[in-house]
Amino acid sequence: MNLLRRKSVTDLQTEALTDHSLRRALGALNLTMLGIGAIIGTGIFVLTGTVAAVNAGPAVVLSFVIAGVASIFAALCYSEFASLVPMAGSAYTYGYATLGEIFAWIIGWDLVLEYALGAVTVAIGWSGYVVSFLKDIGIIVPPALSAARGTVVTLADGSTITAIFNLPAVIIIAIITTLLVIGIKESANVNNVIVFVKVAVVLLFIIGAAHAINPANWHPFIPPQEGPGIYGWSGVMTGGAIVFFAYIGFDAVSTAAQEAKNPQKDMPIGIIGSLLICTVLYILVSGIATGVVPYKELNVPDPIAVAADHAGMGWMSSLIKLGAIAGLSSVILVMLLGQSRVFWSMSRDGLLPQFVNKIHPKFQTPYITSIITGIGVAFVSALLTVREAGSLVSIGTLLAFVIVSIGVLVLRIREPGLPRAFKTPWVWFVAPAGAFSALYLMASLPWRTWERLIIWFVVGIVIYAVYGVSHSKLASKE
Ligand code: ALA
Repeated sequence: MNLLRRKSVTDLQTEALTDHSLRRALGALNLTMLGIGAIIGTGIFVLTGTVAAVNAGPAVVLSFVIAGVASIFAALCYSEFASLVPMAGSAYTYGYATLGEIFAWIIGWDLVLEYALGAVTVAIGWSGYVVSFLKDIGIIVPPALSAARGTVVTLADGSTITAIFNLPAVIIIAIITTLLVIGIKESANVNNVIVFVKVAVVLLFIIGAAHAINPANWHPFIPPQEGPGIYGWSGVMTGGAIVFFAYIGFDAVSTAAQEAKNPQKDMPIGIIGSLLICTVLYILVSGIATGVVPYKELNVPDPIAVAADHAGMGWMSSLIKLGAIAGLSSVILVMLLGQSRVFWSMSRDGLLPQFVNKIHPKFQTPYITSIITGIGVAFVSALLTVREAGSLVSIGTLLAFVIVSIGVLVLRIREPGLPRAFKTPWVWFVAPAGAFSALYLMASLPWRTWERLIIWFVVGIVIYAVYGVSHSKLASKE
């Protein structure tokens, strides 16, 4: 039994370029928009305020720079792989080509934390924003139908009720899953509209609030340390690990590689372009928010709306909620897209059951994996409160970054002569820096997140041992 058997890069390249089962409909612009769709979400609309108030003060800007630099190292490595092996499995397939089957399985299993659990977390946040937005315009969603099962909700009159399930979360997942089944082009078009709305809201905030900056709010820029992770450089670094969540998503562009018209050229543009645009927006938004409001006042669920209010743009409050709702919808869309493509690739390789490996004859989408992913994500987000799920999503993503960064180097050593359409610049610096910075951010996350990660992998290894090992197509070929 050879658990380290590898797929050949040349075979994968041939498969990637000759397989037309999925519809190749996406160009560089659509891919960049998908990246922005996945990136801008809860992170900038919520975490900016918490991290400024609790961890970093105005230096939350530096936390964003640090997490952004770590992400750019990873993005450069992803780009090399995505143009070399443009397959829907993304990091899972890169792992299969470089480190071997068991590692591929582990990465595929790990990506469930990033994509499926990411979608769960964001869908729950989406539900909260929608309920609040509807309340603003006079529509009340029954509290029993807007929280996880068993949650005790206190009503306005002080009485309590026990929630049945989170209906808005189920509705948004059902709508997005239907869209993903109908078509990649249709999904990308809807994503473009949503991204337009959320970027417009972010730009409106930047332009409208900049005049209200009071530089005194930036002093001290790094408040003196009060404890581990509370202000000082330690707080800036902890803040970096927390706001890393805001950058998650650019890598999901690579799962659309088999749906790109010209993946070799356009994948790097989509991955790096979307990340750079969002990094600039994040630095501006966090700088302006802390310049307008004293940082200690930003520990609220809607810090950007509070900052807009301070800048005399109280009218923007509903607009910002709308931007956040739009933002979160496209994050869910791209996460569900990524998860369905990874599952589809794993089933093609025999590591998951074959019946899910079907393409819709008319829509050319992997509809079975899309529907299964949608049902699973809807179920979890309707019934569970996933407290601290965000850090599990971050640790899962960071682990994928570590493996992809190492994988790029392994392949450079093992197969230096492959024609690489995009080469990671200064790879001997960028790839190790990517791996170490991701490891460093992982180390900044709490121990209980690590415990959950370990439990997740134990479950994954058992499934691989029971099913994958004996059904692997590569094994039977050998
Ligand atoms: N980057 C995404 C967000 O901030 C996951 O919601």
